[in-house]
Amino acid sequence: MIDPEALAREFVAAVGRSPRLYRAPGRVNLIGEHTDYNDGFVMPIALDRDTWVAAAPRADRRLVVRSREFGDTVNIDLEGGLSPDVVAQPFPPSLASDRSELRRDSPKREQREGGRAAPAADGRPEGLRCERPPTDVTCASPARPWTRYVQGIAATLGKTRRLIGADLMIASDVPIGAGLSSSAALEVACGFALLDVAGASIDLDHLARAAQRAEHDFAGTRCGIMDQTIACHGRADAALWLDTRSLERRWLPLPPRVRVVVCNTMVRHELASGEYNARRADCEAGVAVLAHQRPNVRALRDATLADLDAVSDQLSARVSRRCRHVITENARVGLAAEALDHGDVHRVGALMNESHDSLRRDYEVSCTELDTMVAIARSLAGVHGARMTGGGFGGCVVALVERAAAATVVREIARKFRSATGTTPEVWPTGAGAGVGAWPVGASA
Ligand code: GLA
Repeated sequence: MIDPEALAREFVAAVGRSPRLYRAPGRVNLIGEHTDYNDGFVMPIALDRDTWVAAAPRADRRLVVRSREFGDTVNIDLEGGLSPDVVAQPFPPSLASDRSELRRDSPKREQREGGRAAPAADGRPEGLRCERPPTDVTCASPARPWTRYVQGIAATLGKTRRLIGADLMIASDVPIGAGLSSSAALEVACGFALLDVAGASIDLDHLARAAQRAEHDFAGTRCGIMDQTIACHGRADAALWLDTRSLERRWLPLPPRVRVVVCNTMVRHELASGEYNARRADCEAGVAVLAHQRPNVRALRDATLADLDAVSDQLSARVSRRCRHVITENARVGLAAEALDHGDVHRVGALMNESHDSLRRDYEVSCTELDTMVAIARSLAGVHGARMTGGGFGGCVVALVERAAAATVVREIARKFRSATGTTPEVWPTGAGAGVGAWPVGASA
């Protein structure tokens, strides 16, 4: 749990001015996985864990951004041409965090003209102006992936809004690489802080889109819009039903008799980004063939299983399986929303189970530890259903649990997972929280 008052005090000690405080949540997705970049449906809740940003304006045009988690400071020049300037080379996994296949800086860093970023050989301006760092201030770099998200949101928002220089201090208790969208929380919290400090108007849909764009251009992950939308719009005690094509939203109250339990396998999804983009490419390959037969199919969201069957001889077995997952998962989100409307948590749990099986078998984004965690959760009394959540390849399982059984379930999942794998997982019941916002300094957390 982050103590915002302590963060404010640390900020004053480091910067010498009083900050404003902002927070944005991570998220856990109840159902609707790998559907958002197929124009489909999702059902996340905002987590009760947040990324916090303390911020105060500066007189110059620089962002000086301190990360408490990484003990690190980055200096970003708002005048310096904040383009992504990336090449397709993965990081060594040991250096990577949430999105491990963030890409390397251009080797053209030395090319400068009078301190301004010089165009790279391909004509693009260089990514980050990396002036000689004064004292503790260093440059954004691929070895420190968190800096890419901050740079990305500043650059993307800076295209349409006049940002001003600011000191930022970031603290977060959203686990990194756990499929709980720590990167969207970071982008959205920083973006909101930068806009507010600059006195700019804040349109949350615009902020969500900018954060998604930052992820595409600066982190190299061609993600959908789910994580950024829930980080912006999350609501207490309700799941968000989101149509990722129209951005239509519906709030589904969580029945008080259940709790959402998050179970972190502690396996970081190190190589998720490359696999993620490969899944997206498979879906696009499927759509290209489907659209040939059925011109109204613009995305997998528009296709049925019958459509898929009709073109199966033109698709590889792998692409067929990927498409089948997305088509069936979209249907499951609709059914789960209906079931939640009727308070039928047992049915929601059964659909979550089906979702996991489809992600494991057809989409192939699960792993042994996730499957072990799911099997343990499902074996316990009071658990309605359990599935992997987020991009996959590690990270977390989400379970829907009877409130009365929650404490026992949490304890038993942790004990059984530890004895099965030797790893101590982090397991906790979460409430659905609020989306991004300012936090009045002086209020208690
Ligand atoms: C990641 C992405 C989301 C979504 C999920 C999978 O969290 O950022 O856009 O695609 O994976 O559902």
